[in-house]
Amino acid sequence: METKIIRITSPADYPLLQEAADCLRGGGLAAIPTETVYGLAGNALDAEASKKIYAAKGRPQDNPLIVHIADLSQWAPLVAEIPENALRLAHAYWPGPMTIILKKSDQIPDATSGGLDTVAVRMPEHPIAREIITRAGVPLAAPSANTSGRPSPTRAEHVYEDLNGKIDYIIDGGECAVGVESTVITLAGGTPRILRPGGITPEMVRAVLGVCEVDPAVYEQLQAGVKAASPGMKYRHYAPKARVTVLSGPLEAFIRYVNTHADAGVYALCFDGEGERLNVPAIEYGAQTDSGAQAHKLFDALRELDERGARRVYARMPSGEGVGLAVYNRLMRAASFEVIELES
Ligand code: TXA
Ligand code: MG
Repeated sequence: METKIIRITSPADYPLLQEAADCLRGGGLAAIPTETVYGLAGNALDAEASKKIYAAKGRPQDNPLIVHIADLSQWAPLVAEIPENALRLAHAYWPGPMTIILKKSDQIPDATSGGLDTVAVRMPEHPIAREIITRAGVPLAAPSANTSGRPSPTRAEHVYEDLNGKIDYIIDGGECAVGVESTVITLAGGTPRILRPGGITPEMVRAVLGVCEVDPAVYEQLQAGVKAASPGMKYRHYAPKARVTVLSGPLEAFIRYVNTHADAGVYALCFDGEGERLNVPAIEYGAQTDSGAQAHKLFDALRELDERGARRVYARMPSGEGVGLAVYNRLMRAASFEVIELES
């Protein structure tokens, strides 16, 4: 299949989106920019379109897709009911990097929900995403537009690397602002619980709902035999080809460790300004105190490590506070939760 690339640089270009929107409504696939990461979109109400998404990504079929809407009125038909707490969260943080899980309605095919009786819905903020959902006239199922297991794409070039020839369109809208995927929160029963951290932090959810749990799988590897609250937790993710180890401890200890393990193929993933003190090639992923910048750069940095042929990566530990929790979670999963505690 030939993949057509459509570049959008301003609202004046929006009419160029119509052919891709028509293709989506008719069951085709298009990668679209969102404020978090690029999504691989298809008609969420069309089981065949969802199956094509799984095939293009090489994604396990039990890992459900997020359904994207552009207007609140599109939500109610997709779910059994919208509880009052869901509505309050939506009013506070939609459009934005937050996905809400509720019991699904019959409109959502099993192929879209991965066979679950719930559905994850998000209203993105990115104007191009909103425009194409509106033009398609249907809600769009869109997982991140990467090959399953690879870091999520934050630029159209990343999508091209993974999916060229496998999908109908790539809409190039430039770099994604947030850089890590949305916060996934379940309101489908019990206390509100974050299954995947993102741009909307636990504190921000608590500010609206009073309570919010964070699933233990955010912090630690899922134990064998434990059922994942979110199927995506089971799979190795975000990982470059190199083995990644996170080093926890002060900068001086990091420098000492890396410089005494400076074999061929070793790379460092560190904070801004630290690379010059290391005897191995280094990729910097934002200032130590700026979790937002780290989120913006992390996936790009992980892909660059592949491009440069890294075989072994030592990474600096992010803070885990605020948006830093999302950075921590993605990096720990890229490292399969392998951490070395350095003595200070
Ligand atoms: O920011 C984002 O959320 C991006 C952009 C494109 O919107 N999308 C995205 O989708 O990251 P994806 O498919 O890569 O991640 C969806 C995550 C998976 O870990 C999946 O297991 C979980 O959400 N998920 C989806 N529906 C679920 C459900 N009904 N119950 C539990 N987990 C669910
Ligand atoms: Mg993904």
